[in-house]
Amino acid sequence: PLPEAFKVPLPIPPVKKPIRSDAKSDYFRVVQRKATVEILPGLKTEVLGYDGLLPGPTFDVRSGRTTVIEQVNQLDVPTVVHLHGGHTPATSDGWPLDLLMPNGHHGDHADHHGMTGGDVKTGTRTYTYPNTQRAATLWYHDHRMDYTAPQVYRGLFGLHLIRDDEEDRLPLPAGEREIPLVIADRAFAADGSFRYPARTDGPGVESEYMEGVIGDVILVNGAPWPVLEVDAARYRFRILNASNARRYELALDRGPAKLVQIGSDGGLLDAPIEHDSVVVAPAERFDIIIDFSQYEVGTELTLLNKLDSGRAGQVMRFKVARKVTDESNIPAKLSSYAEVVEPAGLVRRKWRFTRGNAGNHKGWTINGKVFDPKTMQATVKLDQYEIWSFVTDVHHPVHVHLAPFQVLRRGGKGPGAFDRGWKDTVDVRPAEVVDVLVKFSAHKGKFMIHCHNLEHEDMAMMAAFETV
Ligand code: C2O
Ligand code: CU
Repeated sequence: PLPEAFKVPLPIPPVKKPIRSDAKSDYFRVVQRKATVEILPGLKTEVLGYDGLLPGPTFDVRSGRTTVIEQVNQLDVPTVVHLHGGHTPATSDGWPLDLLMPNGHHGDHADHHGMTGGDVKTGTRTYTYPNTQRAATLWYHDHRMDYTAPQVYRGLFGLHLIRDDEEDRLPLPAGEREIPLVIADRAFAADGSFRYPARTDGPGVESEYMEGVIGDVILVNGAPWPVLEVDAARYRFRILNASNARRYELALDRGPAKLVQIGSDGGLLDAPIEHDSVVVAPAERFDIIIDFSQYEVGTELTLLNKLDSGRAGQVMRFKVARKVTDESNIPAKLSSYAEVVEPAGLVRRKWRFTRGNAGNHKGWTINGKVFDPKTMQATVKLDQYEIWSFVTDVHHPVHVHLAPFQVLRRGGKGPGAFDRGWKDTVDVRPAEVVDVLVKFSAHKGKFMIHCHNLEHEDMAMMAAFETV
Protein backbone atom coordinates (compact mmCIF):
# COMPACT_ATOMS: atom_id res chain seq x y z
CA PRO A 1 0.00 0.00 0.00
CA LEU A 2 1.15 3.50 -0.77
CA PRO A 3 1.70 5.86 2.17
CA GLU A 4 -0.94 8.42 3.03
CA ALA A 5 -0.34 11.71 1.24
CA PHE A 6 0.46 15.05 2.85
CA LYS A 7 1.54 13.67 6.25
CA VAL A 8 5.34 13.92 6.06
CA PRO A 9 6.76 17.44 6.45
CA LEU A 10 8.84 18.56 3.47
CA PRO A 11 12.51 17.94 4.31
CA ILE A 12 15.10 20.49 3.18
CA PRO A 13 18.47 19.01 2.13
CA PRO A 14 21.26 20.38 4.36
CA VAL A 15 23.62 22.98 2.91
CA LYS A 16 27.13 21.57 2.64
CA LYS A 17 29.77 23.40 4.69
CA PRO A 18 33.28 23.89 3.29
CA ILE A 19 36.15 22.33 5.21
CA ARG A 20 38.17 25.42 4.38
CA SER A 21 38.15 28.50 2.16
CA ASP A 22 40.79 30.79 0.73
CA ALA A 23 40.68 33.98 -1.34
CA LYS A 24 39.38 32.24 -4.45
CA SER A 25 38.07 28.80 -3.53
CA ASP A 26 35.95 26.78 -1.14
CA TYR A 27 36.98 23.19 -0.40
CA PHE A 28 34.56 20.38 0.37
CA ARG A 29 34.69 16.66 1.06
CA VAL A 30 31.81 14.36 0.20
CA VAL A 31 31.61 10.67 1.10
CA GLN A 32 29.57 8.51 -1.26
CA ARG A 33 28.19 5.80 0.96
CA LYS A 34 25.29 3.48 1.62
CA ALA A 35 22.83 4.50 4.27
CA THR A 36 19.55 3.18 5.56
CA VAL A 37 16.90 5.86 5.66
CA GLU A 38 13.16 6.05 6.28
CA ILE A 39 11.43 7.26 3.12
CA LEU A 40 8.13 5.40 3.45
CA PRO A 41 6.85 5.71 7.03
CA GLY A 42 7.86 2.65 9.09
CA LEU A 43 10.05 1.09 6.38
CA LYS A 44 13.78 1.14 5.77
CA THR A 45 15.31 1.92 2.39
CA GLU A 46 18.95 1.45 1.53
CA VAL A 47 20.22 4.41 -0.51
CA LEU A 48 23.48 5.21 -2.29
CA GLY A 49 23.95 8.78 -1.19
CA TYR A 50 26.37 11.67 -1.29
CA ASP A 51 27.12 11.81 2.45
CA GLY A 52 24.54 9.01 2.70
CA LEU A 53 21.67 11.40 1.86
CA LEU A 54 18.84 11.36 -0.72
CA PRO A 55 18.98 13.98 -2.13
CA GLY A 56 22.61 14.76 -1.37
CA PRO A 57 23.63 17.97 0.41
CA THR A 58 23.03 21.27 -1.38
CA PHE A 59 26.06 23.28 -2.50
CA ASP A 60 25.33 26.99 -2.15
CA VAL A 61 28.17 28.89 -3.79
CA ARG A 62 29.12 32.25 -5.35
CA SER A 63 29.60 32.89 -9.03
CA GLY A 64 33.32 33.32 -9.76
CA ARG A 65 34.51 31.45 -6.66
CA THR A 66 35.89 27.99 -7.34
CA THR A 67 34.31 24.97 -5.69
CA VAL A 68 36.76 22.11 -5.08
CA ILE A 69 35.11 18.85 -4.04
CA GLU A 70 36.99 15.79 -2.92
CA GLN A 71 34.66 12.86 -3.58
CA VAL A 72 35.34 9.67 -1.61
CA ASN A 73 33.81 6.46 -2.95
CA GLN A 74 32.89 4.13 -0.09
CA LEU A 75 30.27 2.31 -2.18
CA ASP A 76 30.73 -1.07 -3.87
CA VAL A 77 30.28 0.32 -7.38
CA PRO A 78 32.27 2.76 -9.54
CA THR A 79 30.88 6.27 -9.77
CA VAL A 80 31.28 9.43 -11.85
CA VAL A 81 30.09 12.89 -10.75
CA HIS A 82 28.70 15.39 -13.26
CA LEU A 83 27.72 18.97 -12.40
CA HIS A 84 24.67 19.44 -14.62
CA GLY A 85 24.60 22.97 -16.04
CA GLY A 86 28.17 23.65 -15.00
CA HIS A 87 30.64 25.55 -17.17
CA THR A 88 33.25 23.01 -16.22
CA PRO A 89 36.64 21.94 -17.64
CA ALA A 90 36.52 18.52 -19.32
CA THR A 91 38.72 16.93 -16.65
CA SER A 92 36.04 17.62 -14.00
CA ASP A 93 32.96 17.27 -16.19
CA GLY A 94 32.23 13.66 -15.39
CA TRP A 95 33.09 11.92 -18.65
CA PRO A 96 31.23 8.60 -18.21
CA LEU A 97 34.40 6.51 -18.33
CA ASP A 98 36.38 8.70 -15.90
CA LEU A 99 35.48 6.27 -13.15
CA LEU A 100 36.05 6.67 -9.45
CA MET A 101 36.51 3.09 -8.27
CA PRO A 102 35.48 2.20 -4.73
CA ASN A 103 38.06 2.31 -2.00
CA GLY A 104 39.82 -1.02 -1.64
CA HIS A 105 38.49 -2.39 -4.89
CA HIS A 106 40.39 -5.19 -6.64
CA GLY A 107 40.27 -5.86 -10.34
CA ASP A 108 37.66 -4.46 -12.66
CA HIS A 109 34.02 -4.58 -11.57
CA ALA A 110 32.97 -2.54 -14.47
CA ASP A 111 31.48 -4.05 -17.57
CA HIS A 112 31.13 -1.16 -19.97
CA HIS A 113 30.61 -3.08 -23.21
CA GLY A 114 34.38 -3.29 -23.24
CA MET A 115 34.64 0.51 -23.28
CA THR A 116 37.73 1.66 -21.51
CA GLY A 117 40.22 4.46 -21.80
CA GLY A 118 38.82 6.82 -19.21
CA ASP A 119 40.85 8.46 -16.50
CA VAL A 120 40.22 5.93 -13.73
CA LYS A 121 40.97 6.71 -10.09
CA THR A 122 40.49 4.68 -6.94
CA GLY A 123 39.15 5.86 -3.61
CA THR A 124 39.05 9.61 -4.03
CA ARG A 125 38.84 12.09 -6.87
CA THR A 126 38.82 15.86 -6.80
CA TYR A 127 36.40 17.77 -8.99
CA THR A 128 37.02 21.48 -9.62
CA TYR A 129 34.15 23.76 -10.62
CA PRO A 130 35.14 27.35 -11.49
CA ASN A 131 31.50 28.55 -11.29
CA THR A 132 32.33 31.16 -13.93
CA GLN A 133 28.69 31.63 -14.81
CA ARG A 134 25.64 33.59 -13.68
CA ALA A 135 23.45 32.67 -10.73
CA ALA A 136 21.49 29.51 -11.50
CA THR A 137 20.01 26.30 -10.11
CA LEU A 138 22.40 23.52 -11.07
CA TRP A 139 22.45 19.94 -9.88
CA TYR A 140 24.98 17.18 -9.61
CA HIS A 141 24.43 13.50 -10.17
CA ASP A 142 26.06 10.22 -11.07
CA HIS A 143 27.08 9.78 -14.73
CA ARG A 144 28.69 6.34 -14.75
CA MET A 145 28.78 4.67 -18.15
CA ASP A 146 25.84 2.23 -18.53
CA TYR A 147 24.72 2.65 -14.89
CA THR A 148 23.67 6.28 -14.47
CA ALA A 149 19.97 5.42 -14.17
CA PRO A 150 20.15 2.83 -11.36
CA GLN A 151 22.70 4.88 -9.42
CA VAL A 152 20.72 8.12 -9.60
CA TYR A 153 17.61 6.10 -8.76
CA ARG A 154 19.25 4.91 -5.53
CA GLY A 155 20.12 8.43 -4.47
CA LEU A 156 23.18 9.91 -6.20
CA PHE A 157 21.82 13.40 -6.96
CA GLY A 158 21.74 16.82 -5.27
CA LEU A 159 21.52 20.55 -5.87
CA HIS A 160 24.30 23.04 -6.61
CA LEU A 161 23.09 26.64 -6.39
CA ILE A 162 25.18 29.50 -7.76
CA ARG A 163 24.43 33.02 -6.54
CA ASP A 164 25.64 36.39 -7.80
CA ASP A 165 25.29 40.10 -7.07
CA GLU A 166 22.76 40.73 -9.83
CA GLU A 167 20.36 38.25 -8.26
CA ASP A 168 21.12 39.33 -4.68
CA ARG A 169 20.04 42.89 -5.49
CA LEU A 170 16.50 41.73 -6.33
CA PRO A 171 13.81 41.75 -3.61
CA LEU A 172 12.93 38.10 -4.23
CA PRO A 173 11.73 35.83 -1.42
CA ALA A 174 14.81 34.54 0.43
CA GLY A 175 15.95 32.65 3.49
CA GLU A 176 13.13 30.47 4.87
CA ARG A 177 11.01 31.46 1.89
CA GLU A 178 13.43 30.16 -0.76
CA ILE A 179 12.84 26.44 -0.95
CA PRO A 180 14.18 23.69 -3.21
CA LEU A 181 11.67 21.17 -4.57
CA VAL A 182 13.55 18.19 -6.00
CA ILE A 183 10.89 15.97 -7.52
CA ALA A 184 11.62 12.30 -8.27
CA ASP A 185 9.34 9.30 -8.68
CA ARG A 186 10.39 5.93 -7.30
CA ALA A 187 8.97 2.42 -6.94
CA PHE A 188 9.42 0.39 -3.77
CA ALA A 189 9.25 -3.30 -2.89
CA ALA A 190 7.13 -4.39 0.10
CA ASP A 191 10.20 -4.33 2.37
CA GLY A 192 10.89 -0.68 1.52
CA SER A 193 13.81 -1.28 -0.85
CA PHE A 194 13.91 0.46 -4.21
CA ARG A 195 12.45 -1.62 -7.00
CA TYR A 196 14.48 -0.92 -10.13
CA PRO A 197 13.98 -3.31 -13.06
CA ALA A 198 17.66 -3.74 -13.87
CA ARG A 199 18.74 -6.59 -16.07
CA THR A 200 20.69 -9.19 -14.15
CA ASP A 201 23.02 -10.04 -17.04
CA GLY A 202 24.52 -6.62 -17.64
CA PRO A 203 23.73 -2.94 -17.86
CA GLY A 204 20.33 -1.53 -18.77
CA VAL A 205 16.76 -2.44 -17.99
CA GLU A 206 14.41 -5.21 -19.01
CA SER A 207 13.03 -4.60 -22.48
CA GLU A 208 9.56 -3.51 -21.31
CA TYR A 209 11.23 -0.42 -19.84
CA MET A 210 12.48 0.91 -23.19
CA GLU A 211 10.56 4.12 -22.50
CA GLY A 212 12.21 4.58 -19.12
CA VAL A 213 11.47 3.63 -15.53
CA ILE A 214 8.43 5.25 -13.93
CA GLY A 215 7.69 4.93 -10.19
CA ASP A 216 4.34 5.10 -8.41
CA VAL A 217 5.56 7.15 -5.42
CA ILE A 218 6.26 10.85 -5.90
CA LEU A 219 9.10 12.09 -3.70
CA VAL A 220 9.87 15.74 -3.07
CA ASN A 221 13.27 16.28 -1.42
CA GLY A 222 13.18 12.55 -0.66
CA ALA A 223 9.77 12.48 1.10
CA PRO A 224 6.59 10.95 -0.35
CA TRP A 225 3.87 13.53 -1.13
CA PRO A 226 5.07 15.88 1.63
CA VAL A 227 3.33 18.87 3.16
CA LEU A 228 4.80 22.33 3.75
CA GLU A 229 3.35 24.91 6.13
CA VAL A 230 3.76 28.33 4.59
CA ASP A 231 3.27 31.92 5.66
CA ALA A 232 0.70 33.93 3.72
CA ALA A 233 3.55 35.39 1.67
CA ARG A 234 5.55 34.94 -1.52
CA TYR A 235 7.80 31.87 -1.76
CA ARG A 236 10.53 31.09 -4.23
CA PHE A 237 10.66 27.41 -5.23
CA ARG A 238 13.64 26.02 -7.10
CA ILE A 239 12.05 23.10 -8.88
CA LEU A 240 14.19 20.28 -10.30
CA ASN A 241 12.79 17.21 -12.01
CA ALA A 242 15.31 14.58 -10.87
CA SER A 243 13.16 11.70 -12.14
CA ASN A 244 14.72 9.14 -14.46
CA ALA A 245 11.95 9.33 -17.06
CA ARG A 246 8.77 10.95 -15.72
CA ARG A 247 7.58 14.35 -16.95
CA TYR A 248 5.25 16.50 -14.86
CA GLU A 249 2.78 19.25 -15.58
CA LEU A 250 2.75 21.15 -12.29
CA ALA A 251 -0.29 23.21 -11.32
CA LEU A 252 -2.07 24.35 -8.16
CA ASP A 253 -5.49 22.84 -7.53
CA ARG A 254 -7.02 26.27 -6.94
CA GLY A 255 -6.49 29.89 -7.88
CA PRO A 256 -6.00 32.70 -7.81
CA ALA A 257 -2.24 32.20 -7.40
CA LYS A 258 -0.26 31.58 -10.57
CA LEU A 259 3.07 29.87 -10.99
CA VAL A 260 5.24 32.88 -11.72
CA GLN A 261 8.40 31.76 -13.49
CA ILE A 262 11.45 33.91 -12.79
CA GLY A 263 14.20 31.57 -13.94
CA SER A 264 15.13 28.56 -16.02
CA ASP A 265 17.99 26.03 -16.13
CA GLY A 266 20.58 28.76 -16.66
CA GLY A 267 19.32 31.42 -14.24
CA LEU A 268 16.97 34.38 -14.22
CA LEU A 269 14.70 35.30 -17.12
CA ASP A 270 14.64 38.91 -18.29
CA ALA A 271 11.07 39.28 -17.04
CA PRO A 272 8.69 37.06 -15.06
CA ILE A 273 6.17 34.83 -16.86
CA GLU A 274 2.84 33.82 -15.30
CA HIS A 275 1.83 30.22 -15.93
CA ASP A 276 -1.28 28.25 -14.97
CA SER A 277 0.85 25.12 -15.25
CA VAL A 278 4.44 24.26 -16.03
CA VAL A 279 5.67 21.18 -17.88
CA VAL A 280 8.96 19.91 -16.46
CA ALA A 281 10.93 17.20 -18.26
CA PRO A 282 13.69 15.19 -16.58
CA ALA A 283 16.69 17.38 -15.56
CA GLU A 284 14.92 20.69 -16.24
CA ARG A 285 14.77 23.39 -13.56
CA PHE A 286 12.09 26.03 -13.08
CA ASP A 287 12.48 28.90 -10.62
CA ILE A 288 8.90 29.65 -9.57
CA ILE A 289 7.26 32.14 -7.21
CA ILE A 290 3.91 31.41 -5.57
CA ASP A 291 2.15 34.18 -3.67
CA PHE A 292 0.27 32.59 -0.76
CA SER A 293 -0.85 36.00 0.56
CA GLN A 294 -3.85 35.59 -1.75
CA TYR A 295 -5.27 32.90 0.57
CA GLU A 296 -6.93 32.86 3.98
CA VAL A 297 -5.04 31.28 6.84
CA GLY A 298 -6.01 27.60 6.96
CA THR A 299 -6.22 27.17 3.17
CA GLU A 300 -4.72 23.96 1.81
CA LEU A 301 -3.43 23.87 -1.75
CA THR A 302 -2.27 20.79 -3.60
CA LEU A 303 0.48 20.87 -6.19
CA LEU A 304 -0.81 18.63 -8.95
CA ASN A 305 0.80 16.75 -11.81
CA LYS A 306 -1.73 17.16 -14.58
CA LEU A 307 -0.03 14.62 -16.85
CA ASP A 308 -1.31 11.88 -14.58
CA SER A 309 -4.38 10.96 -12.59
CA GLY A 310 -4.56 9.08 -9.30
CA ARG A 311 -1.67 9.23 -6.88
CA ALA A 312 0.90 10.22 -9.51
CA GLY A 313 -1.35 13.17 -10.25
CA GLN A 314 -0.43 14.71 -6.89
CA VAL A 315 2.96 16.03 -5.84
CA MET A 316 2.72 17.81 -2.48
CA ARG A 317 0.56 20.14 -0.39
CA PHE A 318 0.92 23.64 1.03
CA LYS A 319 -0.91 24.74 4.19
CA VAL A 320 -1.22 28.47 4.70
CA ALA A 321 -0.44 28.76 8.41
CA ARG A 322 -0.17 32.42 9.38
CA LYS A 323 -0.52 36.05 8.28
CA VAL A 324 2.74 37.95 8.03
CA THR A 325 4.14 41.07 6.49
CA ASP A 326 6.04 40.34 3.33
CA GLU A 327 8.70 42.67 1.98
CA SER A 328 9.51 40.56 -1.06
CA ASN A 329 8.56 41.49 -4.59
CA ILE A 330 8.80 40.26 -8.16
CA PRO A 331 10.41 43.02 -10.20
CA ALA A 332 9.13 43.50 -13.76
CA LYS A 333 12.75 43.44 -14.93
CA LEU A 334 14.72 40.53 -13.47
CA SER A 335 18.05 40.52 -15.22
CA SER A 336 20.16 41.87 -18.01
CA TYR A 337 19.79 38.57 -19.81
CA ALA A 338 19.00 39.30 -23.44
CA GLU A 339 17.64 37.05 -26.09
CA VAL A 340 20.29 36.63 -28.73
CA VAL A 341 19.38 37.70 -32.20
CA GLU A 342 19.99 34.87 -34.63
CA PRO A 343 23.06 35.79 -36.65
CA ALA A 344 23.23 34.76 -40.30
CA GLY A 345 25.57 32.19 -41.78
CA LEU A 346 26.14 30.05 -38.73
CA VAL A 347 27.34 26.47 -38.60
CA ARG A 348 24.30 24.23 -38.34
CA ARG A 349 24.24 20.71 -36.95
CA LYS A 350 21.45 18.21 -36.80
CA TRP A 351 21.10 15.72 -33.94
CA ARG A 352 18.52 12.98 -34.55
CA PHE A 353 17.32 11.15 -31.43
CA THR A 354 15.69 7.90 -32.52
CA ARG A 355 15.11 4.34 -31.53
CA GLY A 356 17.42 2.02 -33.36
CA ASN A 357 19.89 -0.77 -33.28
CA ALA A 358 23.53 -0.33 -34.01
CA GLY A 359 25.61 -3.47 -34.31
CA ASN A 360 24.45 -5.85 -31.62
CA HIS A 361 23.26 -2.95 -29.49
CA LYS A 362 19.49 -2.58 -29.23
CA GLY A 363 18.13 0.66 -28.01
CA TRP A 364 18.40 4.32 -28.74
CA THR A 365 20.68 6.22 -31.05
CA ILE A 366 21.83 9.73 -31.94
CA ASN A 367 22.31 10.24 -35.68
CA GLY A 368 21.95 6.48 -36.04
CA LYS A 369 24.83 5.67 -33.71
CA VAL A 370 25.14 4.45 -30.16
CA PHE A 371 27.69 6.15 -27.93
CA ASP A 372 31.29 5.64 -28.92
CA PRO A 373 33.75 7.45 -26.66
CA LYS A 374 36.43 7.39 -29.33
CA THR A 375 34.41 9.04 -32.09
CA MET A 376 33.67 12.74 -31.89
CA GLN A 377 30.38 13.39 -33.67
CA ALA A 378 31.22 17.09 -33.92
CA THR A 379 34.24 19.35 -33.62
CA VAL A 380 33.09 22.72 -32.41
CA LYS A 381 35.05 25.98 -32.36
CA LEU A 382 34.95 27.87 -29.09
CA ASP A 383 33.40 31.36 -28.97
CA GLN A 384 31.23 30.94 -32.06
CA TYR A 385 27.50 30.60 -32.15
CA GLU A 386 26.09 27.52 -33.84
CA ILE A 387 22.53 26.43 -34.50
CA TRP A 388 21.79 22.93 -33.34
CA SER A 389 18.59 21.16 -34.39
CA PHE A 390 17.24 18.37 -32.22
CA VAL A 391 14.96 15.96 -34.09
CA THR A 392 12.98 13.23 -32.33
CA ASP A 393 10.83 10.17 -32.86
CA VAL A 394 9.32 10.00 -29.35
CA HIS A 395 9.85 12.26 -26.33
CA HIS A 396 13.49 12.93 -25.49
CA PRO A 397 14.75 15.54 -23.01
CA VAL A 398 17.94 16.66 -24.76
CA HIS A 399 20.86 17.89 -22.64
CA VAL A 400 24.10 19.54 -23.76
CA HIS A 401 27.12 19.75 -21.48
CA LEU A 402 29.36 22.83 -21.04
CA ALA A 403 27.19 25.64 -22.40
CA PRO A 404 23.61 26.77 -22.08
CA PHE A 405 21.54 27.51 -25.17
CA GLN A 406 18.53 29.56 -26.18
CA VAL A 407 15.59 27.97 -27.96
CA LEU A 408 14.99 29.69 -31.31
CA ARG A 409 12.17 27.56 -32.69
CA ARG A 410 10.02 24.64 -31.70
CA GLY A 411 8.08 22.91 -34.46
CA GLY A 412 8.80 25.73 -36.89
CA LYS A 413 7.31 28.40 -34.63
CA GLY A 414 8.98 30.49 -31.95
CA PRO A 415 10.04 29.09 -28.56
CA GLY A 416 7.40 27.20 -26.56
CA ALA A 417 5.81 28.42 -23.33
CA PHE A 418 8.49 26.77 -21.18
CA ASP A 419 11.52 27.42 -23.39
CA ARG A 420 12.43 30.96 -22.29
CA GLY A 421 15.77 31.87 -20.82
CA TRP A 422 19.04 30.01 -20.88
CA LYS A 423 18.41 26.28 -21.05
CA ASP A 424 20.67 23.27 -20.85
CA THR A 425 17.94 20.67 -21.22
CA VAL A 426 15.01 20.93 -23.59
CA ASP A 427 11.91 18.76 -23.69
CA VAL A 428 11.71 17.68 -27.33
CA ARG A 429 8.29 16.16 -27.89
CA PRO A 430 7.40 13.34 -30.31
CA ALA A 431 8.29 13.96 -33.94
CA GLU A 432 9.44 17.49 -33.26
CA VAL A 433 12.32 19.72 -34.30
CA VAL A 434 13.75 22.20 -31.83
CA ASP A 435 16.41 24.67 -32.98
CA VAL A 436 18.71 26.18 -30.41
CA LEU A 437 21.51 28.72 -30.48
CA VAL A 438 24.59 27.59 -28.58
CA LYS A 439 28.09 28.95 -28.01
CA PHE A 440 30.82 27.14 -26.10
CA SER A 441 33.63 28.97 -24.41
CA ALA A 442 36.78 28.62 -22.34
CA HIS A 443 37.16 24.86 -22.07
CA LYS A 444 38.71 22.67 -24.75
CA GLY A 445 38.11 18.95 -24.67
CA LYS A 446 35.58 16.17 -24.93
CA PHE A 447 31.99 16.83 -23.85
CA MET A 448 28.63 15.17 -24.32
CA ILE A 449 25.19 15.66 -25.72
CA HIS A 450 22.62 13.08 -24.66
CA CYS A 451 19.07 12.19 -23.84
CA HIS A 452 18.31 12.79 -20.15
CA ASN A 453 15.75 10.05 -19.95
CA LEU A 454 18.28 8.10 -17.88
CA GLU A 455 17.28 4.71 -19.24
CA HIS A 456 17.78 6.05 -22.77
CA GLU A 457 21.13 7.47 -21.67
CA ASP A 458 22.22 4.08 -20.31
CA MET A 459 21.09 2.48 -23.57
CA ALA A 460 23.86 4.59 -25.13
CA MET A 461 21.78 7.55 -26.37
CA MET A 462 24.77 9.80 -26.00
CA ALA A 463 27.23 11.41 -28.37
CA ALA A 464 30.61 12.96 -27.80
CA PHE A 465 31.76 16.25 -29.27
CA GLU A 466 35.03 18.09 -28.97
CA THR A 467 35.61 21.78 -28.48
CA VAL A 468 38.70 23.29 -30.10
CU1 C2O B 1 22.42 15.73 -16.03
CU2 C2O B 1 25.11 14.48 -18.86
O1 C2O B 1 23.77 14.99 -17.46
CU1 CU C 1 15.41 9.72 -24.83
